[in-house]
Amino acid sequence: MRLDKYLSNMGLGSRKEVKPLLKSGAVEVNGKTEKDPKRHVEAETDRITVNGEEILYTEFIYLMLHKPPGTVSATEDSRDRTVVDLLGPAERHFNPFPVGRLDKDTEGLLLLTNDGKLAHELLSPRKHVDKTYFARIDGEVTAEDAEAFREGVILDDGYKTKPATLRILSAGPESEIELTITEGKFHQVKRMFRSVGKEVVYLKRLSMGTLRLDPSLGPGEYRPLTEQELKGLKQEK
Ligand code: URA
Repeated sequence: MRLDKYLSNMGLGSRKEVKPLLKSGAVEVNGKTEKDPKRHVEAETDRITVNGEEILYTEFIYLMLHKPPGTVSATEDSRDRTVVDLLGPAERHFNPFPVGRLDKDTEGLLLLTNDGKLAHELLSPRKHVDKTYFARIDGEVTAEDAEAFREGVILDDGYKTKPATLRILSAGPESEIELTITEGKFHQVKRMFRSVGKEVVYLKRLSMGTLRLDPSLGPGEYRPLTEQELKGLKQEK
């Protein structure tokens, strides 16, 4: 493909916008400065750099986002800020979308990708990908609640949840817990606690399958998945 198309496809701007970049001498092909936008390059074998940094040709993007509260897990919304609005133009260029949903007031781990196949597999109810949440609960969470969650509780629509693991970190008038569930019903964690007469007052997703929220990412920050993290996700049972 043409060099300007390569650079444009990798999010460096429109073909028109990459022209001055080429003209400035910032782009090298296999170690040699290349200014011709029409130069033919092979995505598989040629090494393209911009200001010394290698630009690998990839079709897919995989981002770990620490979703902040107050954003919606969607690509577009007429009222609220979406998780995609948090990304820079280079990432948005790939049209990523969130894999599954966190409520507007929930924060924590959210995977964003344009790999529809992987997203579909991770969300498939047949896969039972574990999701672990940290929550603060208004009320004293008890061993009986843990037992009820292990057995499965009946939600407000009559659905019986699959066995879930509740770890009580601290119990009191306000309790702190970690809950691991293997499904993703609408508002599931909040509804599970409601079924035992308690309210979730703060909710954060810590992990999804083998993928754990990087503690160095603050709310609203994101980074690409490492090779290892991606491999782990692709191998989810
Ligand atoms: N369960 C909830 O209730 N809300 C979320 O955002 C995720 C799981």
